[in-house]
Amino acid sequence: MDNKRKNFTVPEEELEKQKEYSRLVSLVLSSRFPSSAPKAFVHTYGCQGNVSDGEKIKGILCSLGYELTDSVEDADLVLYNTCAIREHAQDRVFGNVGALKKYKTAKPDMIIALCGCMMQQEYVAERIKNSFRYVDLVFGTHVLHKLPEFLHRCLCSGKRVFDLSGGDGNIVEGLPLHRDGAFKAWIPIMYGCNNFCSYCVVPYVRGRERSRSFELIVEEARQLVAAGYKELTLLGQNVNSYNKDLEEKYRFPALLSAINDIEGDFIIRFMTSHPRDCTKELLETMARCKKVAKHLHLPVQSGNDRVLREMNRHYDREKYLGLIKYAYELMPELSITSDIIVGFPGETYEEFCDTLSLLKEVNYTSLFTFIFSPRPGTKAASMPDEVEKKEKSRWFSELTALQEEIASKRTAAMKGRSYRVLVEERNENSGLLSARTEGNVIIEFEGEDCLIGSFAKVEVTEPKTWVLKGRFIELG
Ligand code: SAH
Ligand code: SF4
Ligand code: F3S
Repeated sequence: MDNKRKNFTVPEEELEKQKEYSRLVSLVLSSRFPSSAPKAFVHTYGCQGNVSDGEKIKGILCSLGYELTDSVEDADLVLYNTCAIREHAQDRVFGNVGALKKYKTAKPDMIIALCGCMMQQEYVAERIKNSFRYVDLVFGTHVLHKLPEFLHRCLCSGKRVFDLSGGDGNIVEGLPLHRDGAFKAWIPIMYGCNNFCSYCVVPYVRGRERSRSFELIVEEARQLVAAGYKELTLLGQNVNSYNKDLEEKYRFPALLSAINDIEGDFIIRFMTSHPRDCTKELLETMARCKKVAKHLHLPVQSGNDRVLREMNRHYDREKYLGLIKYAYELMPELSITSDIIVGFPGETYEEFCDTLSLLKEVNYTSLFTFIFSPRPGTKAASMPDEVEKKEKSRWFSELTALQEEIASKRTAAMKGRSYRVLVEERNENSGLLSARTEGNVIIEFEGEDCLIGSFAKVEVTEPKTWVLKGRFIELG
Protein backbone atom coordinates (compact mmCIF):
# COMPACT_ATOMS: atom_id res chain seq x y z
CA MET A 1 0.00 0.00 0.00
CA ASP A 2 2.87 2.41 0.57
CA ASN A 3 5.17 1.86 -2.38
CA LYS A 4 5.09 5.57 -3.34
CA ARG A 5 6.39 6.63 0.04
CA LYS A 6 9.93 7.04 1.21
CA ASN A 7 10.98 3.85 2.91
CA PHE A 8 12.18 4.60 6.43
CA THR A 9 12.60 0.99 7.48
CA VAL A 10 16.09 0.01 8.63
CA PRO A 11 17.43 -2.84 6.44
CA GLU A 12 17.31 -6.36 7.84
CA GLU A 13 21.13 -6.72 7.43
CA GLU A 14 21.69 -3.80 9.79
CA LEU A 15 19.51 -5.45 12.43
CA GLU A 16 21.31 -8.76 11.93
CA LYS A 17 24.61 -6.97 12.45
CA GLN A 18 23.31 -5.57 15.73
CA LYS A 19 22.24 -9.06 16.81
CA GLU A 20 25.78 -10.24 16.22
CA TYR A 21 27.10 -7.35 18.36
CA SER A 22 24.55 -8.30 21.02
CA ARG A 23 25.99 -11.80 21.20
CA LEU A 24 29.51 -10.38 21.52
CA VAL A 25 28.54 -7.88 24.23
CA SER A 26 26.75 -10.61 26.20
CA LEU A 27 29.92 -12.70 26.10
CA VAL A 28 32.11 -9.81 27.23
CA LEU A 29 29.71 -8.97 30.05
CA SER A 30 29.46 -12.53 31.31
CA SER A 31 33.22 -12.82 31.48
CA ARG A 32 33.62 -9.44 33.22
CA PHE A 33 30.75 -10.04 35.62
CA PRO A 34 31.00 -13.77 36.34
CA SER A 35 29.09 -13.86 39.62
CA SER A 36 26.20 -11.45 39.15
CA ALA A 37 24.65 -9.52 36.28
CA PRO A 38 25.98 -6.00 35.56
CA LYS A 39 23.56 -3.25 36.53
CA ALA A 40 22.17 -0.45 34.37
CA PHE A 41 20.56 2.77 35.57
CA VAL A 42 18.41 4.37 32.84
CA HIS A 43 16.67 7.71 33.24
CA THR A 44 14.48 9.34 30.61
CA TYR A 45 13.60 13.06 30.43
CA GLY A 46 10.96 14.67 28.23
CA CYS A 47 7.83 13.53 26.47
CA GLN A 48 6.10 10.17 26.29
CA GLY A 49 7.74 9.51 22.94
CA ASN A 50 11.08 9.69 24.69
CA VAL A 51 9.78 7.50 27.53
CA SER A 52 8.80 4.96 24.90
CA ASP A 53 12.34 5.11 23.46
CA GLY A 54 13.57 4.56 27.03
CA GLU A 55 11.59 1.30 27.10
CA LYS A 56 13.44 0.18 23.97
CA ILE A 57 16.81 1.14 25.49
CA LYS A 58 16.00 -0.85 28.62
CA GLY A 59 14.81 -3.74 26.45
CA ILE A 60 18.12 -3.80 24.57
CA LEU A 61 20.16 -3.56 27.78
CA CYS A 62 18.23 -6.41 29.41
CA SER A 63 18.70 -8.55 26.30
CA LEU A 64 22.46 -7.97 26.59
CA GLY A 65 22.46 -9.26 30.16
CA TYR A 66 22.09 -6.08 32.20
CA GLU A 67 19.80 -5.94 35.20
CA LEU A 68 18.02 -2.61 35.79
CA THR A 69 18.68 -0.69 38.98
CA ASP A 70 17.25 2.47 40.58
CA SER A 71 20.57 3.37 42.14
CA VAL A 72 23.28 5.27 40.26
CA GLU A 73 25.78 4.17 42.90
CA ASP A 74 25.24 0.46 42.16
CA ALA A 75 25.22 0.91 38.40
CA ASP A 76 27.86 -0.35 35.97
CA LEU A 77 26.18 1.62 33.20
CA VAL A 78 24.38 4.95 33.63
CA LEU A 79 22.35 6.20 30.69
CA TYR A 80 20.43 9.45 30.43
CA ASN A 81 17.90 9.70 27.59
CA THR A 82 17.60 13.46 27.24
CA CYS A 83 15.13 16.15 26.11
CA ALA A 84 15.91 19.44 24.34
CA ILE A 85 12.51 21.11 24.34
CA ARG A 86 13.39 24.01 26.66
CA GLU A 87 16.63 25.41 28.01
CA HIS A 88 15.62 24.50 31.53
CA ALA A 89 15.24 20.83 30.53
CA GLN A 90 18.77 20.90 29.11
CA ASP A 91 20.27 22.66 32.10
CA ARG A 92 18.90 19.96 34.36
CA VAL A 93 20.61 17.30 32.29
CA PHE A 94 23.94 19.16 32.30
CA GLY A 95 23.62 19.48 36.09
CA ASN A 96 22.88 15.79 36.52
CA VAL A 97 25.69 14.74 34.20
CA GLY A 98 28.05 16.95 36.23
CA ALA A 99 26.96 15.11 39.36
CA LEU A 100 28.01 11.77 37.81
CA LYS A 101 31.69 12.67 37.92
CA LYS A 102 32.13 11.55 41.50
CA TYR A 103 30.59 8.13 40.73
CA LYS A 104 32.89 7.64 37.78
CA THR A 105 35.90 8.61 39.90
CA ALA A 106 34.91 6.05 42.51
CA LYS A 107 34.22 3.40 39.87
CA PRO A 108 36.30 4.06 36.73
CA ASP A 109 34.83 1.08 34.85
CA MET A 110 31.35 2.58 35.00
CA ILE A 111 30.07 3.42 31.51
CA ILE A 112 28.32 6.78 31.27
CA ALA A 113 26.08 7.18 28.23
CA LEU A 114 23.92 10.06 26.98
CA CYS A 115 21.36 9.87 24.20
CA GLY A 116 18.09 11.41 23.04
CA CYS A 117 17.05 14.75 21.57
CA MET A 118 19.59 16.93 23.32
CA MET A 119 22.49 14.93 21.89
CA GLN A 120 21.17 15.37 18.36
CA GLN A 121 22.30 19.02 18.56
CA GLU A 122 25.90 19.55 17.54
CA TYR A 123 26.72 22.25 20.08
CA VAL A 124 25.57 20.00 22.92
CA ALA A 125 27.61 17.03 21.72
CA GLU A 126 30.64 19.34 21.40
CA ARG A 127 30.18 20.59 24.94
CA ILE A 128 29.96 17.03 26.24
CA LYS A 129 33.02 16.05 24.25
CA ASN A 130 35.10 18.92 25.63
CA SER A 131 33.77 19.64 29.09
CA PHE A 132 32.47 16.28 30.32
CA ARG A 133 35.37 14.03 29.43
CA TYR A 134 34.22 11.20 31.65
CA VAL A 135 31.16 10.60 29.43
CA ASP A 136 31.94 7.46 27.42
CA LEU A 137 29.11 7.21 24.93
CA VAL A 138 26.94 9.79 23.17
CA PHE A 139 24.39 8.91 20.50
CA GLY A 140 21.48 10.68 18.84
CA THR A 141 17.86 9.77 18.22
CA HIS A 142 18.38 8.05 14.86
CA VAL A 143 20.76 5.29 15.95
CA LEU A 144 19.22 3.92 19.13
CA HIS A 145 19.10 0.43 17.58
CA LYS A 146 22.92 0.47 17.35
CA LEU A 147 23.33 0.43 21.12
CA PRO A 148 24.84 -3.11 21.07
CA GLU A 149 27.53 -1.96 18.60
CA PHE A 150 28.29 1.18 20.64
CA LEU A 151 28.62 -0.79 23.86
CA HIS A 152 30.86 -3.29 22.16
CA ARG A 153 33.17 -0.45 21.13
CA CYS A 154 33.11 1.08 24.63
CA LEU A 155 33.77 -2.21 26.38
CA CYS A 156 36.47 -3.47 24.03
CA SER A 157 38.34 -0.32 22.98
CA GLY A 158 37.95 1.77 26.11
CA LYS A 159 37.63 4.77 23.74
CA ARG A 160 34.86 7.34 23.78
CA VAL A 161 32.11 6.73 21.23
CA PHE A 162 30.11 9.52 19.56
CA ASP A 163 27.45 8.85 16.90
CA LEU A 164 25.20 11.74 16.00
CA SER A 165 24.17 10.60 12.55
CA GLY A 166 21.55 12.96 11.20
CA GLY A 167 19.19 12.58 8.29
CA ASP A 168 15.46 12.16 8.09
CA GLY A 169 15.26 9.34 10.61
CA ASN A 170 14.11 5.76 10.37
CA ILE A 171 11.66 3.18 11.65
CA VAL A 172 13.03 0.18 13.48
CA GLU A 173 10.62 -2.63 14.28
CA GLY A 174 11.11 -5.65 16.49
CA LEU A 175 13.54 -4.19 19.06
CA PRO A 176 13.37 -5.77 22.50
CA LEU A 177 11.10 -3.75 24.79
CA HIS A 178 11.06 -3.43 28.55
CA ARG A 179 7.68 -1.89 29.32
CA ASP A 180 7.63 0.25 32.46
CA GLY A 181 3.97 -0.45 33.21
CA ALA A 182 2.05 -3.67 33.72
CA PHE A 183 -1.35 -2.28 32.68
CA LYS A 184 -0.63 1.01 30.91
CA ALA A 185 1.30 0.93 27.65
CA TRP A 186 2.69 3.42 25.16
CA ILE A 187 2.35 2.64 21.46
CA PRO A 188 4.29 4.96 19.16
CA ILE A 189 2.38 5.25 15.89
CA MET A 190 4.63 7.78 14.20
CA TYR A 191 7.97 9.44 14.68
CA GLY A 192 9.41 12.87 13.85
CA CYS A 193 7.64 16.05 12.84
CA ASN A 194 7.30 18.15 9.69
CA ASN A 195 5.58 21.16 11.16
CA PHE A 196 8.50 23.38 12.06
CA CYS A 197 6.58 25.52 14.52
CA SER A 198 8.96 28.46 14.72
CA TYR A 199 9.82 27.96 18.42
CA CYS A 200 10.31 24.20 18.36
CA VAL A 201 13.42 22.05 18.23
CA VAL A 202 11.65 18.71 17.67
CA PRO A 203 11.76 18.63 13.83
CA TYR A 204 15.52 19.24 14.01
CA VAL A 205 16.28 16.52 16.52
CA ARG A 206 13.68 13.91 15.55
CA GLY A 207 13.75 14.03 11.77
CA ARG A 208 10.85 13.85 9.31
CA GLU A 209 7.38 12.60 10.04
CA ARG A 210 7.09 8.86 9.42
CA SER A 211 4.27 6.49 10.28
CA ARG A 212 4.50 2.91 11.51
CA SER A 213 2.56 0.23 9.70
CA PHE A 214 -1.16 0.17 10.47
CA GLU A 215 -1.19 -3.62 10.77
CA LEU A 216 1.79 -3.74 13.13
CA ILE A 217 0.21 -1.16 15.44
CA VAL A 218 -3.12 -2.98 15.58
CA GLU A 219 -1.31 -6.26 16.23
CA GLU A 220 0.74 -4.68 19.02
CA ALA A 221 -2.47 -3.35 20.59
CA ARG A 222 -4.11 -6.77 20.30
CA GLN A 223 -1.19 -8.44 22.05
CA LEU A 224 -1.17 -5.85 24.82
CA VAL A 225 -4.89 -6.30 25.47
CA ALA A 226 -4.43 -10.09 25.48
CA ALA A 227 -1.63 -9.62 28.04
CA GLY A 228 -4.02 -7.73 30.32
CA TYR A 229 -3.15 -4.10 29.53
CA LYS A 230 -5.99 -1.73 30.40
CA GLU A 231 -4.84 1.54 28.87
CA LEU A 232 -3.13 2.04 25.53
CA THR A 233 -1.77 5.48 24.62
CA LEU A 234 -1.03 6.10 20.96
CA LEU A 235 1.90 8.46 20.54
CA GLY A 236 3.11 10.91 17.93
CA GLN A 237 3.96 14.62 17.71
CA ASN A 238 0.96 15.05 15.47
CA VAL A 239 -1.14 11.88 15.48
CA ASN A 240 -3.71 13.53 13.22
CA SER A 241 -1.33 13.35 10.34
CA TYR A 242 -0.69 9.61 10.79
CA ASN A 243 -0.51 8.04 7.30
CA LYS A 244 -1.67 11.37 5.90
CA ASP A 245 -0.43 10.43 2.44
CA LEU A 246 -2.42 7.20 2.32
CA GLU A 247 -6.09 6.43 1.72
CA GLU A 248 -8.57 7.21 4.47
CA LYS A 249 -8.84 3.60 5.56
CA TYR A 250 -5.25 3.77 6.85
CA ARG A 251 -5.39 7.17 8.54
CA PHE A 252 -5.69 8.06 12.23
CA PRO A 253 -9.49 7.84 12.66
CA ALA A 254 -9.43 4.41 10.98
CA LEU A 255 -6.61 3.33 13.30
CA LEU A 256 -8.61 4.42 16.34
CA SER A 257 -11.63 2.47 15.09
CA ALA A 258 -9.57 -0.64 14.41
CA ILE A 259 -8.09 -0.62 17.92
CA ASN A 260 -11.51 0.15 19.39
CA ASP A 261 -12.78 -3.02 17.69
CA ILE A 262 -10.31 -5.23 19.56
CA GLU A 263 -12.24 -7.32 22.01
CA GLY A 264 -11.63 -6.61 25.72
CA ASP A 265 -12.07 -4.04 28.47
CA PHE A 266 -9.50 -1.28 27.97
CA ILE A 267 -9.28 2.41 27.15
CA ILE A 268 -7.49 4.17 24.34
CA ARG A 269 -5.75 7.51 24.70
CA PHE A 270 -3.73 9.43 22.16
CA MET A 271 -1.42 12.40 22.00
CA THR A 272 -0.59 14.84 20.61
CA SER A 273 -3.27 16.16 18.33
CA HIS A 274 -2.25 19.20 16.30
CA PRO A 275 -5.24 21.50 15.68
CA ARG A 276 -4.02 22.06 12.13
CA ASP A 277 -4.77 18.46 11.17
CA CYS A 278 -7.63 17.80 13.59
CA THR A 279 -10.67 16.93 11.52
CA LYS A 280 -14.38 16.62 12.21
CA GLU A 281 -13.97 12.99 11.31
CA LEU A 282 -11.51 12.49 14.16
CA LEU A 283 -13.99 14.00 16.63
CA GLU A 284 -16.82 11.89 15.22
CA THR A 285 -14.66 8.78 15.55
CA MET A 286 -13.82 9.68 19.15
CA ALA A 287 -17.52 10.13 19.91
CA ARG A 288 -18.44 6.83 18.29
CA CYS A 289 -15.67 4.64 19.73
CA LYS A 290 -16.65 3.57 23.25
CA LYS A 291 -13.10 2.66 24.29
CA VAL A 292 -11.58 5.97 23.25
CA ALA A 293 -11.25 8.18 26.35
CA LYS A 294 -13.29 11.35 26.06
CA HIS A 295 -10.20 13.45 26.55
CA LEU A 296 -8.67 15.62 23.86
CA HIS A 297 -5.25 17.16 24.30
CA LEU A 298 -5.32 19.89 21.66
CA PRO A 299 -2.42 22.31 22.22
CA VAL A 300 -3.40 25.81 21.15
CA GLN A 301 -0.18 27.64 22.23
CA SER A 302 -1.80 31.10 21.90
CA GLY A 303 -5.24 32.64 21.50
CA ASN A 304 -4.02 35.43 19.23
CA ASP A 305 -3.99 35.11 15.45
CA ARG A 306 -0.88 37.19 14.82
CA VAL A 307 1.10 35.18 17.37
CA LEU A 308 -0.22 31.91 15.94
CA ARG A 309 0.94 33.00 12.50
CA GLU A 310 4.39 33.87 13.82
CA MET A 311 4.50 30.49 15.53
CA ASN A 312 3.76 28.87 12.15
CA ARG A 313 0.86 26.89 13.60
CA HIS A 314 -1.35 26.97 10.46
CA TYR A 315 -4.69 27.55 12.23
CA ASP A 316 -6.37 30.57 13.73
CA ARG A 317 -8.47 31.17 16.80
CA GLU A 318 -11.68 30.76 14.85
CA LYS A 319 -10.74 27.38 13.42
CA TYR A 320 -9.61 26.20 16.86
CA LEU A 321 -12.80 27.34 18.58
CA GLY A 322 -14.85 25.81 15.76
CA LEU A 323 -13.26 22.42 16.47
CA ILE A 324 -13.91 22.82 20.19
CA LYS A 325 -17.55 23.74 19.60
CA TYR A 326 -18.13 20.73 17.39
CA ALA A 327 -16.31 18.47 19.85
CA TYR A 328 -18.55 19.61 22.75
CA GLU A 329 -21.66 19.16 20.60
CA LEU A 330 -20.69 15.56 19.94
CA MET A 331 -19.29 14.87 23.41
CA PRO A 332 -20.76 17.21 26.05
CA GLU A 333 -18.65 15.59 28.78
CA LEU A 334 -15.41 15.92 26.83
CA SER A 335 -12.36 16.98 28.80
CA ILE A 336 -10.03 19.26 26.85
CA THR A 337 -6.43 20.07 27.77
CA SER A 338 -3.80 22.18 26.07
CA ASP A 339 -0.27 23.54 25.97
CA ILE A 340 0.33 27.29 26.14
CA ILE A 341 3.46 29.32 25.48
CA VAL A 342 3.71 32.65 27.28
CA GLY A 343 5.98 35.42 26.03
CA PHE A 344 6.61 34.34 22.45
CA PRO A 345 8.97 36.94 20.85
CA GLY A 346 7.04 40.08 20.04
CA GLU A 347 3.92 39.05 21.96
CA THR A 348 2.26 42.06 23.59
CA TYR A 349 0.19 42.05 26.76
CA GLU A 350 -2.96 42.66 24.68
CA GLU A 351 -2.17 39.64 22.54
CA PHE A 352 -1.52 37.58 25.64
CA CYS A 353 -4.98 38.63 26.90
CA ASP A 354 -6.45 36.85 23.86
CA THR A 355 -5.01 33.64 25.29
CA LEU A 356 -6.71 34.38 28.62
CA SER A 357 -10.07 34.91 26.94
CA LEU A 358 -9.63 31.72 24.92
CA LEU A 359 -9.06 29.77 28.14
CA LYS A 360 -12.45 30.94 29.37
CA GLU A 361 -14.18 30.11 26.11
CA VAL A 362 -12.79 26.60 25.94
CA ASN A 363 -13.15 25.79 29.64
CA TYR A 364 -10.07 23.58 29.79
CA THR A 365 -9.65 20.81 32.36
CA SER A 366 -5.94 21.56 32.74
CA LEU A 367 -2.99 23.07 30.93
CA PHE A 368 0.72 22.61 30.43
CA THR A 369 2.08 26.14 30.52
CA PHE A 370 5.54 27.28 29.45
CA ILE A 371 7.47 30.51 29.18
CA PHE A 372 9.03 30.78 25.73
CA SER A 373 12.53 29.36 25.66
CA PRO A 374 14.72 30.21 22.65
CA ARG A 375 16.08 27.05 21.03
CA PRO A 376 19.27 27.50 19.01
CA GLY A 377 18.68 26.99 15.30
CA THR A 378 14.93 27.65 15.36
CA LYS A 379 13.37 30.65 13.64
CA ALA A 380 11.94 32.16 16.82
CA ALA A 381 15.34 32.12 18.52
CA SER A 382 16.44 34.97 16.26
CA MET A 383 13.24 37.03 16.54
CA PRO A 384 13.48 40.24 18.56
CA ASP A 385 12.25 39.48 22.05
CA GLU A 386 11.86 42.61 24.11
CA VAL A 387 9.58 41.72 26.97
CA GLU A 388 11.58 41.13 30.13
CA LYS A 389 11.65 37.76 31.84
CA LYS A 390 10.10 39.30 34.95
CA GLU A 391 7.17 40.64 32.95
CA LYS A 392 6.68 37.26 31.25
CA SER A 393 6.63 35.63 34.68
CA ARG A 394 3.83 38.00 35.71
CA TRP A 395 1.78 37.01 32.65
CA PHE A 396 2.55 33.39 33.40
CA SER A 397 1.16 33.75 36.94
CA GLU A 398 -1.95 35.45 35.60
CA LEU A 399 -2.48 32.55 33.22
CA THR A 400 -2.05 29.84 35.83
CA ALA A 401 -4.29 31.71 38.30
CA LEU A 402 -7.06 31.91 35.70
CA GLN A 403 -6.73 28.24 34.82
CA GLU A 404 -6.87 27.37 38.50
CA GLU A 405 -10.17 29.22 38.76
CA ILE A 406 -11.56 27.44 35.69
CA ALA A 407 -10.38 24.04 36.91
CA SER A 408 -11.85 24.48 40.39
CA LYS A 409 -15.24 25.34 38.92
CA ARG A 410 -15.06 22.25 36.73
CA THR A 411 -14.06 19.94 39.57
CA ALA A 412 -16.65 21.46 41.96
CA ALA A 413 -19.32 20.38 39.48
CA MET A 414 -18.04 16.80 39.75
CA LYS A 415 -18.98 16.51 43.45
CA GLY A 416 -21.42 13.70 44.20
CA ARG A 417 -21.03 12.14 40.76
CA SER A 418 -19.38 8.80 40.21
CA TYR A 419 -16.82 8.00 37.56
CA ARG A 420 -15.26 4.89 36.11
CA VAL A 421 -11.52 5.17 36.70
CA LEU A 422 -8.39 3.12 36.19
CA VAL A 423 -6.62 2.64 39.52
CA GLU A 424 -2.93 3.40 38.94
CA GLU A 425 -0.90 3.38 42.14
CA ARG A 426 -0.70 4.25 45.80
CA ASN A 427 0.29 7.85 46.36
CA GLU A 428 3.13 7.67 48.84
CA ASN A 429 2.41 11.11 50.29
CA SER A 430 -1.31 10.82 50.87
CA GLY A 431 -1.30 7.05 51.39
CA LEU A 432 -4.39 6.89 49.16
CA LEU A 433 -4.97 5.01 45.94
CA SER A 434 -4.63 7.22 42.90
CA ALA A 435 -6.75 6.77 39.81
CA ARG A 436 -7.52 8.71 36.65
CA THR A 437 -10.87 9.51 35.10
CA GLU A 438 -11.40 9.19 31.36
CA GLY A 439 -10.98 12.96 31.21
CA ASN A 440 -7.52 12.64 32.80
CA VAL A 441 -8.42 14.04 36.22
CA ILE A 442 -6.74 12.40 39.21
CA ILE A 443 -8.94 11.05 41.96
CA GLU A 444 -7.68 9.61 45.24
CA PHE A 445 -9.51 7.31 47.60
CA GLU A 446 -9.03 4.72 50.32
CA GLY A 447 -8.68 1.14 49.17
CA GLU A 448 -6.59 -2.00 49.01
CA ASP A 449 -3.52 -2.44 46.78
CA CYS A 450 -5.27 -5.27 44.95
CA LEU A 451 -7.37 -2.65 43.15
CA ILE A 452 -4.29 -1.30 41.34
CA GLY A 453 -4.53 -2.06 37.63
CA SER A 454 -8.33 -2.47 37.67
CA PHE A 455 -11.23 -0.30 36.64
CA ALA A 456 -13.36 0.92 39.54
CA LYS A 457 -16.35 3.13 40.15
CA VAL A 458 -15.53 5.99 42.50
CA GLU A 459 -17.75 8.78 43.82
CA VAL A 460 -16.29 12.27 44.09
CA THR A 461 -16.67 13.41 47.70
CA GLU A 462 -14.28 16.34 47.99
CA PRO A 463 -13.19 18.07 44.81
CA LYS A 464 -9.96 20.03 45.05
CA THR A 465 -8.60 21.96 42.09
CA TRP A 466 -6.23 19.37 40.65
CA VAL A 467 -6.89 16.22 42.64
CA LEU A 468 -10.31 14.96 43.62
CA LYS A 469 -10.97 12.98 46.79
CA GLY A 470 -13.40 10.14 46.37
CA ARG A 471 -15.03 7.04 47.78
CA PHE A 472 -14.68 3.59 46.27
CA ILE A 473 -18.03 2.17 45.21
CA GLU A 474 -17.32 -1.01 43.34
CA LEU A 475 -15.03 -2.73 40.87
CA GLY A 476 -15.77 -2.60 37.18
N1 SAH B 1 3.79 18.20 19.01
C1 SAH B 1 3.11 18.83 20.06
C2 SAH B 1 3.98 19.47 21.08
C3 SAH B 1 5.23 18.83 21.54
S1 SAH B 1 6.28 19.80 22.53
C4 SAH B 1 2.17 19.90 19.47
O1 SAH B 1 2.47 20.47 18.45
O2 SAH B 1 1.20 20.20 20.07
C5 SAH B 1 5.26 20.10 23.95
C6 SAH B 1 5.02 21.53 24.22
O3 SAH B 1 6.20 22.18 24.61
C7 SAH B 1 4.50 22.35 23.07
O4 SAH B 1 3.15 22.16 22.84
C8 SAH B 1 4.81 23.75 23.51
O5 SAH B 1 3.77 24.30 24.27
C9 SAH B 1 6.04 23.56 24.40
N2 SAH B 1 7.24 24.07 23.74
C10 SAH B 1 7.86 23.60 22.65
N3 SAH B 1 8.92 24.36 22.33
C11 SAH B 1 8.97 25.34 23.25
C12 SAH B 1 9.85 26.46 23.46
N4 SAH B 1 10.85 26.71 22.65
N5 SAH B 1 9.61 27.26 24.52
C13 SAH B 1 8.57 27.03 25.36
N6 SAH B 1 7.72 26.00 25.20
C14 SAH B 1 7.92 25.17 24.16
FE1 SF4 C 1 7.10 21.00 17.72
FE2 SF4 C 1 5.15 21.98 16.27
FE3 SF4 C 1 6.12 19.58 15.71
FE4 SF4 C 1 4.68 19.96 17.90
S1 SF4 C 1 3.95 20.16 15.81
S2 SF4 C 1 6.59 18.85 17.75
S3 SF4 C 1 5.26 22.00 18.53
S4 SF4 C 1 7.18 21.51 15.52
FE1 F3S D 1 11.85 16.57 24.43
FE2 F3S D 1 12.53 15.26 22.30
FE3 F3S D 1 10.20 14.84 23.36
S1 F3S D 1 12.89 17.39 22.66
S2 F3S D 1 9.68 16.77 24.30
S3 F3S D 1 12.12 14.41 24.34
S4 F3S D 1 10.69 14.75 21.20
